[in-house]
Amino acid sequence: MPRRMSRRSSVLEHDANPSLRAFAPLRESLLALTMTITGALVVCRCGLAQEPVFGPPVHDPAKIVGSDQCAKCHDKEVQRWMRTPHVATFDTLHRTPAAKEIADRLGLPSIKRNDTCVQCHYTRQQQNGRLRVVEGVSCESCHGAAADWLNFHADYGGENVTRQMETSDHHRQRIELSIARGMNNPHNVYLIAKQCYNCHTVPNERLVNVGGHVAGSASFELVAWSQGIVRHNYLRTDGAANAQGTPAQLRVLYVVGVLADLEYSLRASAAATEKATFGVTSAQRAARMKQRLHEIQRLVNEPLLAPAIEAVSTVELRLGNSAMLIEAADKVAEAAYTFADQADGDRLTPLDPLLPRPEQYINSRAN
Ligand code: HEC
Ligand code: HEC
Ligand code: HEC
Ligand code: HEC
Repeated sequence: MPRRMSRRSSVLEHDANPSLRAFAPLRESLLALTMTITGALVVCRCGLAQEPVFGPPVHDPAKIVGSDQCAKCHDKEVQRWMRTPHVATFDTLHRTPAAKEIADRLGLPSIKRNDTCVQCHYTRQQQNGRLRVVEGVSCESCHGAAADWLNFHADYGGENVTRQMETSDHHRQRIELSIARGMNNPHNVYLIAKQCYNCHTVPNERLVNVGGHVAGSASFELVAWSQGIVRHNYLRTDGAANAQGTPAQLRVLYVVGVLADLEYSLRASAAATEKATFGVTSAQRAARMKQRLHEIQRLVNEPLLAPAIEAVSTVELRLGNSAMLIEAADKVAEAAYTFADQADGDRLTPLDPLLPRPEQYINSRAN
């Protein structure tokens, strides 16, 4: 089927394939919903960032505003982010012999100026009609290109309305509409998790098999990798402290990580065309995550996880099975979104032995 074919190639290339959008009704329906609630708000759907909720991320360089814009209000977050490898890669990657070797094997003359390395190591912005690499992995790599939601996400309902005065209805609408406008808002942490895995599973066969790039961050696990150097939770204390996630939040984060890992290793498996490092590593990863999901379900028996388990119960991890693998990945995505939205972390205490301990959190080279 031609549609499946184009979906498969878009997993490889991460491009904005319009056919993906057919599978991602949620953001559209959220938008329709919020339009009805807010009534007066006139939002042109056509001009919005339409990243599909249930498909690989899309980043529109025309809607990137850059971290300087965030720094105006999120100075602490920016300071923290500056210490991460996500920032460092901008200055270091193109100088490393390993990067040059990969680029040579792929026939790429420049590391910053090609469509491949940019997808995961850099942020590209459109300036006066030209595409420029402006940062490494940036605020917007994880939270979404911000032009359509920047002013909106922090508006409590008028010029003189403070956080304390905001009604709960307005709060809910603000979060929903920010998501509809393309924000990967941590109120649904799946929206951010999918960004992590879309880079950290390295879903690009040629990059791995021909370029010799590492086939994903083997030990990537969402709690350990997000709660160390990457953590920047200053909102709760108005900038005074970088808060740890509560045990309930961390349990939800852990499960969302396993679901997103499963989803993105299924997508990578679907993109494999030969039995070599990329395909084998991706399929092994998917099999491992399927097993972990079963282990989780044995411990918590959570109805919200049933659709994801069902989706992968019969799908075969083999070459030439792309359509089925992508279909399973889309269902896992939907389950992950719903789980992140509705799960009650307080009921997931049996998972505690599976969670990494604070001393296992990744503080990395930069710390
Ligand atoms: C004009 C000030 C301002 C700017 C500029 C700004 N923010 Fe915010 N941001 C806020 C405020 C205020 C909140 C807290 C909203 C609340 O109380 O829920 C917030 C909350 C957030 C949240 C938490 C989710 C939420 O809805 O509470 C994220 C993530 C975020 N901002 C990211 C960004 C990023 C990324 C940028 C730059 C692209 C940015 N912000 C620019 C003021 C700003
Ligand atoms: C699909 C995402 C993705 C793409 C595309 C990608 N990388 Fe990476 N790269 C990563 C991730 C994730 C890591 C960190 C892996 C780890 O955990 O060790 C990484 C690590 C590296 C490293 C080792 C770390 C370092 O800084 O020395 C090199 C070298 C590298 N990449 C080069 C490249 C080059 C060159 C390109 C373009 C030809 C490229 N990468 C494209 C995701 C990607
Ligand atoms: C746009 C792609 C991209 C996204 C999105 C992304 N990363 Fe990364 N991440 C990278 C790359 C590339 C590196 C390696 C940088 C280097 O060393 O050159 C990296 C490195 C890291 C490291 C340092 C690992 C080490 O061994 O030092 C951590 C921790 C990390 N990422 C966590 C996360 C988490 C958690 C998320 C999601 C919340 C995330 N990343 C989202 C691309 C990405
Ligand atoms: C590697 C991915 C990644 C990058 C880069 C990133 N964030 Fe986040 N951000 C997250 C995740 C994941 C969360 C939710 C964390 C949690 O629940 O522990 C979050 C949460 C937030 C929050 C809410 C924190 C709170 O106290 O509740 C704000 C505000 C925010 N980010 C702003 C920013 C800004 C500004 C930047 C750039 C300087 C940035 N983020 C860069 C992944 C990222």
